[in-house]
Amino acid sequence: MKIAVITGASSGMGKEFVRQIGGAYRSLDEIWAISRKVEGLEKFPGRCSRLRLLPLDLTREADMETLKGELWKNRPCIRILVNGAGVGHYGLVEELTVEEQLQMIDLNCRALTQVTLFCLPYLTKGSRILQLSSGSAFCPQPRFAVYGAGKAYVTSFSRALHRELKKRKITVTSVCPGPVDTEFFVHGNIALPAWKKPFLVKPEKVVCKALFDAEAGKELSVYGLPVKLVRLGARILG
Ligand SMILES: NC(=O)c1ccc[n+]([C@@H]2O[C@H](COP(=O)([O-])OP(=O)(O)OC[C@H]3O[C@@H](n4cnc5c(N)ncnc54)[C@H](OP(=O)(O)O)[C@@H]3O)[C@@H](O)[C@H]2O)c1
Repeated sequence: MKIAVITGASSGMGKEFVRQIGGAYRSLDEIWAISRKVEGLEKFPGRCSRLRLLPLDLTREADMETLKGELWKNRPCIRILVNGAGVGHYGLVEELTVEEQLQMIDLNCRALTQVTLFCLPYLTKGSRILQLSSGSAFCPQPRFAVYGAGKAYVTSFSRALHRELKKRKITVTSVCPGPVDTEFFVHGNIALPAWKKPFLVKPEKVVCKALFDAEAGKELSVYGLPVKLVRLGARILG
């Protein structure tokens, strides 16, 4: 059975990955859609019959064991893994709660790593891994300190894994967008600063480019000139 595994499937870019992968990858038998809430996803437009909904909280060890068990039971061939689940809390390190800051590490770093490691044995030649990182990975960001540091981890981990998996002909693409017009800001209780609003981009575009870059075997997918400039600036100054 050939499948795609997509976390963060209930919203934003994860949901868009479900839509675009469901439409474009006709050889897949199933898409495993993972998030805590899955209500409504079954009515998702497109090839819904192939959707397997897994309502899992990826920060709970018991739910991680459920995912591991499902993989073991079905022994699928994972053609695409998208780690899209993530959360961001904005504010000074001394203002945000300890729980908020650890939640970002637990979900954005630990869970992403764990899902990747669980899926690795089921990936085959030509499989693609897409890790949702961020433009925040390129340089330290006051008021987004833990989030940005976590995304730097995601990108560094992904790029190293990309090299390690070369011999298996599996690629890992770190997706690094700037602000994207999703519910991310509502979920993280973030009031998007006015100066960032003109830079908001549509999730459809970011996801489309990410899939294109993954197919091309790129280790980084950076959508839009502003984030490309941030990356360049960080490389020059850093
Ligand atoms: N939007 C942006 O501006 C932006 C920019 C750069 C990078 N990113 C990154 O892109 C990724 C996707 O962001 P998005 O914009 O699509 O955000 P979003 O709309 O808030 O979606 C986040 C997804 O993560 C899932 N999730 C949250 N906590 C979870 C948990 N404990 N277990 C399982 N799933 C969980 C949510 O589903 P449930 O609540 O149903 O669990 C939701 O499906 C994140 O890693 C984010 O850091 C976003």
